[in-house]
Amino acid sequence: MERTFIMIKPDGVERRLIGKIISRIENKGFNITKAKLFMPSVELVEKHYAEHYGKDFYNELVSFISGGTVMAMIVEGENCIQVMRLLIGDKNPVNATPGSIRGDHASSTTYNIIHGSDSSDTAKREIALWFGGEE
Ligand code: CDP
Ligand code: MG
Repeated sequence: MERTFIMIKPDGVERRLIGKIISRIENKGFNITKAKLFMPSVELVEKHYAEHYGKDFYNELVSFISGGTVMAMIVEGENCIQVMRLLIGDKNPVNATPGSIRGDHASSTTYNIIHGSDSSDTAKREIALWFGGEE
C-alpha cells in the first residue's frame, strides 16, 4: 500500500485544526499508521526543506516550522500521495480550490496549515527523515 508523509504545521496545531484535518484524511478512506506531536529541531526542518535552501522564503519557513508544535504522520492508502496533494490544495491561496484543506483554511502562502509529500521519492525520503529510527 502506498504511503505518504503528512505534517500539520504549527499554525494548524495552534488553530486547533488537528481534529478537522485528521477527520478529512480518514473520511477519504486513508489510514494514519504513525503520528507524533512535537517541536521539530531546526536541523530536521532544514533537511526537510533542503530543496528550498537559498530561496527568499527559506529562512522564514524554517523558523516558522521549527518554532512550534507540529503533527507528523504517515498516511497509507491507494494513490495517497497524489490524492493527499489534491486534498491539501495549492500553496498559493489564489489557486487553492475551495473544499481543499488550504482552500478552506489558509490565506497565506507561508502559513498554510499542512504539508504533504509531492512524489513517491519524496515520500520515501520524508518518511525516513521524520520516522527513520522508529520503523
Ligand atoms: O508545500 P508545497 O509542496 O505545496 O509547496 P512548496 O513549493 O514545496 O513550498 C514549501 C513551503 O514553503 C510552502 O508550503 C510554504 O509554507 C512555503 N513557501 C513560502 O513561504 N513562500 C513561497 N513563495 C513558496 C513556498
Ligand atoms: Mg513541496
